Amino acid sequence: MKKILALTVVLVATIQIQAQQKPIYLDPKAPMEERIGDALGRMTLEEKIAMVHAQSKFSSPGVPSLGIPDNWMTDGPHGIRAEVLWDEWNTAGWTNDACIAFPALTCLAATWNEDMAALYGKSIGEEARYRNKNVLLGPGVNIYRTPLNGRNFEYMGEDPLLASRMVVPYVKGVQANGVAACVKHFALNNQEIRRHEVNVNVDDRTLYEIYLPAFKAAVQEGGAWAIMGSYNRYKGQWACQNQYLLNDILRTEWGFDGVVISDWGGVNDTMQAIYNGLDMEFGTWTDGLNFGQSNAYDNYYLADPFLKLIRSGEVKEAEVDRKVRNILRLAFRTTMNPERPFGSFATEAHGDAGRKIAQEGIVLLKNTANVLPVDLKHTNKIAVIGENAIKVMTVGGGSSSLKVKYEVSPLAGIQSRVGDEAEVVYARGYVGDQLAGQDGLSTGENIADNRTPEELIVEACKVAAEADYVIFIGGLNKNPGQDCEGDDRASLGLPYGQDKLIDELAKVNKNLAVVIISGNAVAMPWVDRVPSIVQGWYLGSEAGNALASILVGDVNPSGKLPFTFPVRLQDSAAHSVGEYPGGEEETYNEGIFVGYRWVDKQKTKPLFSFGHGLSYTTFEYGKVTADKKEMTQDGKMTFHVKVKNTGSREGAEVVQLYIRDVRSSLPRPVKELKSFHKVRLAPGEEKEVAFTIDRTALAFFDDAKHEWVAEPGDFEAIIGASSTDLRGKVSFKLK
Ligand code: BGC
Repeated sequence: MKKILALTVVLVATIQIQAQQKPIYLDPKAPMEERIGDALGRMTLEEKIAMVHAQSKFSSPGVPSLGIPDNWMTDGPHGIRAEVLWDEWNTAGWTNDACIAFPALTCLAATWNEDMAALYGKSIGEEARYRNKNVLLGPGVNIYRTPLNGRNFEYMGEDPLLASRMVVPYVKGVQANGVAACVKHFALNNQEIRRHEVNVNVDDRTLYEIYLPAFKAAVQEGGAWAIMGSYNRYKGQWACQNQYLLNDILRTEWGFDGVVISDWGGVNDTMQAIYNGLDMEFGTWTDGLNFGQSNAYDNYYLADPFLKLIRSGEVKEAEVDRKVRNILRLAFRTTMNPERPFGSFATEAHGDAGRKIAQEGIVLLKNTANVLPVDLKHTNKIAVIGENAIKVMTVGGGSSSLKVKYEVSPLAGIQSRVGDEAEVVYARGYVGDQLAGQDGLSTGENIADNRTPEELIVEACKVAAEADYVIFIGGLNKNPGQDCEGDDRASLGLPYGQDKLIDELAKVNKNLAVVIISGNAVAMPWVDRVPSIVQGWYLGSEAGNALASILVGDVNPSGKLPFTFPVRLQDSAAHSVGEYPGGEEETYNEGIFVGYRWVDKQKTKPLFSFGHGLSYTTFEYGKVTADKKEMTQDGKMTFHVKVKNTGSREGAEVVQLYIRDVRSSLPRPVKELKSFHKVRLAPGEEKEVAFTIDRTALAFFDDAKHEWVAEPGDFEAIIGASSTDLRGKVSFKLK
């Protein structure tokens, strides 16, 4: 009897402990892989299949029976997209989803400041988190191959090192909020024309040296939890279901353990989608169901067709398990992470962050006779001319289009900064497309104007002639055919007759500053007739305030170009020797010679070079020195250069280190960017900048060996204020 009693006590106690014990998958302290295995073991096949494809435009189911929440994605990459209807692209009409728009990623890259990338990531991550999204569809790091690519504004320029350095803090900043950064579009999506079918032919060396490094850095250094496959094909397979890109490179070579998400409508085949590395299918329109028809989700390639294949035994359940493991890992990192913060939305702090990034990214391209900054003490009247001074720029461009809490236009920013210090008058000057809305969003402004180009020019010139200063604000916009997803630009030239207008303005007033708002290089046939030129980018909510602060000199410009401005389109490699826009096939004949690498090789003179950007102060560079004469294969080497602010105001300079391989067995670029530092200097102040490199800065990718090789021999470390403004160099050897 005693024995029975004791046994009962033990049994009851065990049951109680078991009842109190959480399942492993719910224990945040349990090892990640154990949690994943535990959750997976509790799921039905149907639950697994549900997880690997969308259930709405931007969500996919979690595991309701296990309390694992749905996954909610959001564009990205410049702000949190407005809520859309469950099954449609149309906005849902919420009244609490107006975000802060941050500057476009070209502007972020132009800051050449990793702290700005960290601030950007932190801030946008907080916005995503507050809105209960666990995946931010961004940042984009496709390399700027041609100035015609309609989506360049969403990317970080032409150089793999610059994009790599800038993407890492962005990813980390986002993910510190328990929100996955989904780095896109992997890979070789370098144009919008024919993006859904083009098969990109590129040699391995170019792939590894130019088009992959920023993705690799995002994965290995940034620890990105998600990657988005691109629309195009590579080696004949669509990138979202690509053995080479996803299985061989991303998973096997780089050890990526996050989720691969398809671009919206980027999946085209069930078998390849099952086996070639994809985890989540989004945005597909399938099986004769027309574009946009509701409830097509069961017909997704990874929905019923996948389920049937597993049920019939043609495909093993292990295939869906592999995907679900990655998706569960995403859940444990994001929605199921009890430590994640709560985020914040549309705050003043985020506005300030956006302004700061914008101020550091604006590039002063030209400033002869120091026309800028506007000298308010001696100015009575400022004429602001141009449509981009008033046009809403946060709406448009495609998937990155934003519904914002506010957007300060350049004109409003200038007016508010100048106040009563001078009179500000405005004239339109030219009229572009006059869309009242785009991407399901209304611009909220009516800028219709039916006057002829001649009438507009006459008015603008009259206003300009009577002013002390003329600030022209034009460039591109985010309407289709400009800087906009879905198509490329038709030419390098400015649209809407702006060249003629600028020429006329230059004739009537010599105090002319031209501000180009764009995410791309534009042709400037008037460059010699205009004293001051500013590259203004798409600057987000704080656009006008940021621009005004640069124009009047409250902030000293310190941005540098993240891509080359060619004089003519033919000066860009893709248009000279590359196949652009290609047909079904497109070969990147220019190989590794993209951007300044092509400029150096051809010895052409660009309109404005990669890395170029002026300041209102001046910097003097000292002699470049090296800490040793020879570096060993596993050693390091440090170069020093002193930089002095020789002007009369505080400023920041981006000091750039390029490496030249003097002789090598394979053709190499004349030089390549390998490091940079942004130094802030008070007037008269001098600082020593140090660059430490190892063999990775000297290596090239040897296709034959399929590895990075640093060949012994002679090298040069070249210090530049841009890729063409070189200030000093030192030779060294690799043993
Ligand atoms: C774009 C992606 C975007 C997705 C969702 C696609 O068309 O290429 O960048 O994240 O739509 O809006």
